[in-house]
Amino acid sequence: MPENSQNLMDKIVSLCKRRGFIYPGSDIYGGFGGFYDFGPLGVEMKNNLKNLWWKWMTIEHENIVGIDGAIITNPKVWEASGHVESFVDPLSECKKCHKRFKADDIEGKKCPECQGELTEPKKFNILMPVQIGVIEGEKVNAYLRGEACQTIYLNYKNILNTTRLKIPFGVCQTGKAFRNEVTPGNFLFRQREFEQWDLQWFCHPKEMEKWFDFWKKERMEWYRGLFTNPKNLGFYKHEKLAHYAKKAFDIVYEKSPCEIKEIEGIHWRGDWDLSRHQQYSGQDLSYTDMETKEKFIPQIVETSGGVDRMFLFLLIDAYTEEKERIVLKLNPKIAPYKVAVFPLLANKPKLIEKARSVYLGLKKQFSVVWDDRGNIGKRYYAQDEAGTPFCITIDFDSLEKDDVTVRERDSMKQERIKIKELKEYLEEKLNE
Ligand code: GAP
Repeated sequence: MPENSQNLMDKIVSLCKRRGFIYPGSDIYGGFGGFYDFGPLGVEMKNNLKNLWWKWMTIEHENIVGIDGAIITNPKVWEASGHVESFVDPLSECKKCHKRFKADDIEGKKCPECQGELTEPKKFNILMPVQIGVIEGEKVNAYLRGEACQTIYLNYKNILNTTRLKIPFGVCQTGKAFRNEVTPGNFLFRQREFEQWDLQWFCHPKEMEKWFDFWKKERMEWYRGLFTNPKNLGFYKHEKLAHYAKKAFDIVYEKSPCEIKEIEGIHWRGDWDLSRHQQYSGQDLSYTDMETKEKFIPQIVETSGGVDRMFLFLLIDAYTEEKERIVLKLNPKIAPYKVAVFPLLANKPKLIEKARSVYLGLKKQFSVVWDDRGNIGKRYYAQDEAGTPFCITIDFDSLEKDDVTVRERDSMKQERIKIKELKEYLEEKLNE
């Protein structure tokens, strides 16, 4: 990674820990490679993101329903899906320093670290095995799911039988996926446990091209609406395809500080999954059009994104260093807290009482944080780093005039607003 990109990544990792976005997994034991925990601000922001995604999928689109499938399925699922055979990472080892690299990440035959010679790539399956049961000898080998979407295919008939959906329709899901990544790294970008958001769109074979183009465009629009600098997003067309895909584009963040740019894959999965599950389960997974009586295996367009990658790309995109402050210029919709409330001084009971009543009044409607530590400058500094769009200060004038100072994060402009008009003011500003 070039030095300034490494610097940026180091600064983001440090801010994430300092402000409570992300902690290294098992921190007190020295961490555990490829696992991270979301802290108080991180979980708020991640939930905001997932809620926006869910609402956009299931409320703003017609004919899309959601499920929440199990993480562990019958192990035959992963044979049928092709993952037992094909979910592999080719890995090369440096003969001199013994570091290992994903063959896909390196160019040429020399170690990127010490220029030593690399071994021929060996293949490693990255499904994560688990054992189910308690009695030795009777335990069943299964897997933590390697991709979240399989339970959607398994339930496709159940969904058709229990809803009024007809083709074309979509099923969406957010949830954890697990991969024994041989080289986890780059913070949240390549983890062993991460979260995906998937849409599986079931359609008639003749309409695949149309829907593939539709979802490619639609998903890009959604991402553009959330990034601070949407011009940093682009498409990457895959030449080397996953075992299930006939055509694939990634939505990428062009200014990534490392080699990983992909946020979401738009995959033409065709009838691969349903045909394979039909073959391995012996169940009829075809669809009959009630009007034309045509019987066929639906084809699938998949949009599969990484929640954690989106999270980190958003932080990178929003991270801004100014003369006297660091500010996360996050879209207010995803900022962990929308508003911070401060009493000007922490040792004046009348100010505290007034500020508490403003805080409690807003708290039922907005995600609000209280801060009475240090001086006002330090509080602004902390909230700018956390990406909080508005800071409200209650001062001595507030006691007389029933108003407060509202300071906007990006412009740092301040204005006096009457307490009784605050909710309306914030609602309007936050929905701009
Ligand atoms: N169901 C298709 C599927 O899983 P994928 O391209 O392997 O496709 C989808 O994964 C998304 O999951 C990627 O675009 C990426 O954002 C995220 N992702 C994949 N591996 C990841 C990892 N090891 N750590 C974090 N996110 C990952």
